[in-house]
Amino acid sequence: MSLRVAVVGSGPAGLYTAEALMKQATGPVTVDVLERLPTPYGLVRYGVAPDHTSIKSIAGYLRGVLELPDVRFLGGVEFGKDVDAADLLACYDAVVYCTGAMVDRRMGIPGEDLPGSVAATDFVNWYCGHPDVPADRFVLDSSEVAVIGVGNVAVDVVRVLAKTAEELRATDVPEEVLRRLAASRVRTIHMIGRRGPEHAKFTLKELRELGELTNADVRVRREECRADVTAASRQVRGNVEVLQSWAARGLAGRPRLVDVRFWMRPVEILGEGRVEALKLERTRLVEGRVTGTGEFETLPVGMVLRSVGYRSVPLPGVPFSESTMTVPNEAGRVRDREYVAGWLKRGPTGVIGTNKSDAAETVRTLLADLAGREPVRHADLDDLLAARGVSPVTYEQWLSIEAAEAELAKSLDRGERVKLLGLAAMLTACGR
Ligand SMILES: Cc1cc2nc3c(=O)[nH]c(=O)nc-3n(C[C@H](O)[C@H](O)[C@H](O)COP(=O)(O)OP(=O)(O)OC[C@H]3O[C@@H](n4cnc5c(N)ncnc54)[C@H](O)[C@@H]3O)c2cc1C
Ligand SMILES: NC(=O)c1ccc[n+]([C@@H]2O[C@H](COP(=O)([O-])OP(=O)(O)OC[C@H]3O[C@@H](n4cnc5c(N)ncnc54)[C@H](OP(=O)(O)O)[C@@H]3O)[C@@H](O)[C@H]2O)c1
Repeated sequence: MSLRVAVVGSGPAGLYTAEALMKQATGPVTVDVLERLPTPYGLVRYGVAPDHTSIKSIAGYLRGVLELPDVRFLGGVEFGKDVDAADLLACYDAVVYCTGAMVDRRMGIPGEDLPGSVAATDFVNWYCGHPDVPADRFVLDSSEVAVIGVGNVAVDVVRVLAKTAEELRATDVPEEVLRRLAASRVRTIHMIGRRGPEHAKFTLKELRELGELTNADVRVRREECRADVTAASRQVRGNVEVLQSWAARGLAGRPRLVDVRFWMRPVEILGEGRVEALKLERTRLVEGRVTGTGEFETLPVGMVLRSVGYRSVPLPGVPFSESTMTVPNEAGRVRDREYVAGWLKRGPTGVIGTNKSDAAETVRTLLADLAGREPVRHADLDDLLAARGVSPVTYEQWLSIEAAEAELAKSLDRGERVKLLGLAAMLTACGR
């Protein structure tokens, strides 16, 4: 009898888990991948920046996993709404939770809830065409905006704001989003780091891209990027060298300006009824802690995008640590027959590839635990979903959505694909 495993979430962690199960199992195994959206690939589709086409092509590799004969995609099935842990444990020998970290973190400063103060998660979802965020969510009508945080997501957001719509035309950005980017009045984008350049989380390749923008200059203040990096890693030395070289060069008069700041922390978002300014405080480190110096500066921005990290949300009935915002586990084991992988397991850090070794560890634990055990499952998920009126989106139906996106791109004379907007359009494309 084959081992039956349910994987919840079809991002990199979920699909690397399915692949590892196929590779590591010594006997027959079948995997059902449950996904709340009609589309697979998680943040590869709805996170990776649209102009990073080579990274997006990882979807081609993940597609290969979904096409393995013993792997099945069940889109439009949400854990916590359509099924719960007890349902899945009745139908499968084991369940692996891989639902990622979909929600923004907050800064905890006054004014954070003013209109115009937004999470990078929302903005990323918007330009990636995620069905949770409508296309009219953003109007880029401010000439100055601030992006808080100096990680790779902040760099993505800054780059999308700095590029022209023409530069993004060949990407899969939804047509309505592209129209709104073309109408953008943004001229200055401040990117704010609360510590020094040697502490920034962005990677060198991503940082360098900011210096190669044809539509924007980059400004860095010499006094803000002094740092002793002689003992630092190559990555940190590289970042600081690039920033210092930008500080030494003049502006070329390009239409937009990326203003990179360090040693400044946001203390208040100001405005009557909407964001009108951002108050910053100069910082320094005292015993390793970011500490305010009492020196303030106010930026006249109309939008504040917080890109200060993601966090996971608890899954109903599944253990969750509020302190680490992850599912507590031992090498991927949560409880008897329940496992976890990816960002839900280790928090929202690491590139796509990190999830491969992470998933492999979880699968090793799972297979060792289940070796020689008699199956205890006694129900069938298809029957259970049918009884609840849930009809999953199949892999073939997802391919119809992909085909409709390619067709749309062709009709608009754009690149390989243009994302369909909204669940209804996607479901129509797959004949439902
Ligand atoms: C904005 C952004 C850009 C990034 N860009 C890059 C990059 O360029 N290169 C790189 O290497 N890494 C990048 N990363 C990191 C990379 O995306 C992550 O390492 C990776 O996606 C994490 O994989 P995951 O499967 O744990 O989570 P996810 O990719 O988030 O997948 C989780 C999946 O679970 C589904 N799900 C959630 N809740 C439920 C539920 N209740 N029921 C069913 N399904 C559910 C979601 O819809 C989603 O499909 C980026 C991250 C972000 C946030
Ligand atoms: N191209 C790529 O490879 C790519 C693209 C996107 C994302 N990713 C990956 O995805 C993961 C998540 O990226 P991320 O950018 O969301 O997270 P991140 O790398 O953790 O960066 C978060 C940034 O927010 C800052 N921050 C946190 N709280 C703050 C606060 N209250 N006030 C001001 N600043 C605050 C952090 O500063 P401190 O350091 O001071 O806390 C840090 O600069 C990372 O591993 C990243 O590499 C990769």
